[in-house]
Amino acid sequence: MSGELSPIDKAKFVAARKAAEYVQDGMTVGLGTGSTAAWLVRCLADKMQTEGLTFKGVPTSTRTAALANQLGLNVISLDEARWLDLTIDGADEFDKDLNLIKGGGGALLQEKIVATASDQMVVISDVSKRVDTLGNFPLPVEVIPFGWQTSKALLEELLVSMDVLGRKTTLRMNGDAPYVTDEGNHILDCHLNRIGNARQLALALNQVPGVVENGLFIDICDIVVMGHGDGKVETHDINAGTIGEDQIDFLDTDNLFTDLAD
Ligand code: A5P
Repeated sequence: MSGELSPIDKAKFVAARKAAEYVQDGMTVGLGTGSTAAWLVRCLADKMQTEGLTFKGVPTSTRTAALANQLGLNVISLDEARWLDLTIDGADEFDKDLNLIKGGGGALLQEKIVATASDQMVVISDVSKRVDTLGNFPLPVEVIPFGWQTSKALLEELLVSMDVLGRKTTLRMNGDAPYVTDEGNHILDCHLNRIGNARQLALALNQVPGVVENGLFIDICDIVVMGHGDGKVETHDINAGTIGEDQIDFLDTDNLFTDLAD
């Protein structure tokens, strides 16, 4: 079964498999959103079945909640958890300081709240997400529907004074209609190409009336677990200043692919 996966999917899988080792019995764990985070949920379900792992999961979207419930995880809300031991989530880009762009899947608001309420955030990714400078991936900004065009204009005005290369913003669509987040908001994707000062931009964006949150995660991520298509996994720990390397053997995981893959 693992042989049918693309190299990118294998890379996502091995990153998720490695990161699942951070989850210990009794922990409360934030469950990210996206295709890489979906592999994590499957890996954790496998560890429940094969190792008897017990933990509570706080999903960051209705999509992740549906998958976690389907696989029998013990799902609780953030209000029930209040604080989490760990969040494991994907990312759209990360730089050498482990600052991130997130929200390509539209779940940035819940993702940022849950990650910020966690002792530790671990990002799982394939190698394509590592960048020298953030900004090639369009930065998602969540805005309330009321007056979103005014918010868009204010956002574009703000970008004139920011250290970015591009300034075009587009309303994310779902077919013919604006995309709607789990909170009933819209997303403006900002095509910035290069973000010179991500910290400054993250703070400034949230000052624009109508903006709920932006997809820049600054000083939130502690560890990135980056997978390769051949099973190699690199673990970058920003606090310890270490880079570790492991190899995940696909032969050991054939049951997981057979039982849990889509
Ligand atoms: C969801 O809103 C995003 O933040 C995702 O974490 C991000 O888009 C990564 O998704 P993939 O794992 O599917 O690449």
